[in-house]
Amino acid sequence: MSGRFITFEGIDGAGKSTHIDALAERLRHMGQHVVCTREPGGTPLAETLRGQILQSAMDPLTEALLVFAARRDHIQQVIAPALAQGHSVLCDRFTDATFAYQGAGRGFDSDVLSTLETWVQQGLQPALTFWFDLPAETAAERRAAARSPDRFEQLDVHFFNRVRQGYAHRMEQSPQRFARLDAAQSREQVWAQVVAQMEQRGW
Ligand code: TYD
Repeated sequence: MSGRFITFEGIDGAGKSTHIDALAERLRHMGQHVVCTREPGGTPLAETLRGQILQSAMDPLTEALLVFAARRDHIQQVIAPALAQGHSVLCDRFTDATFAYQGAGRGFDSDVLSTLETWVQQGLQPALTFWFDLPAETAAERRAAARSPDRFEQLDVHFFNRVRQGYAHRMEQSPQRFARLDAAQSREQVWAQVVAQMEQRGW
C-alpha cells in the first residue's frame, strides 16, 4: 500500500487538530503506517524556526523565507523519506497556509511565493487537502475560549477574512486536490465529513 500525503488547513480556530489525530487512528487501524507532523515545524531545525516565526516581528519577505526554509528541511528530513517508505503523512498545515496567511492575509507577492514553492517542493504536492472552512467571526469566538494567542492569532477578523479568501482562491486553482469541510458544524458532523471524503476516494 503506498502512502499518501494529506494536509489540513483552515483559519486559526477551525478545529482541525482533533480530526488529524482521529484520521491517523483510523488509517492505522486499516493497517497503514502514519506519520503525523506539522508546519511550520516537524524537524528540530524547523521547530526552532517556528518559534521565531510565531513570536518575533519581522518583515514579510523574511517571514516567507523562514516558512519555506522550515518547509525545505521538513520535506527532506521527514515527508519525502516517509512517503518513499510507503507511509502516509498527515500534516497540520502546508503551503496553502503560506498563500493564505503570508499571501492573502499579509498581502505578500504571490508570484514570489509561487517561485519559492517550485524551488522548495520540486513538484511535491499533497494528494488531498482538507480545508476546514468557517466564518472568521465563528473562529474568533472559538479562539477566545482557548489559550493565549500567538502573533497570527492576535490578528483581527479582517485579516482572517482575507486568509479565508486565500484558501478559497487556492481551492479554485486546484479543485481536485481540495476537500472543503463545513467546520462551523459540530465536531461529530465535521468528522463525518472527513470520513465521507476518504470513503469517496476509496481510502
Ligand atoms: P497552528 O498550525 O494553528 O498551530 P497551533 O494549533 O499550535 O496554534 O499555528 C500555526 C500558525 O502559523 C498559524 O497561525 C498559521 C501560521 N502559518 C503561516 O502563517 N504560514 C505558514 O506557511 C504556516 C504553515 C503557518
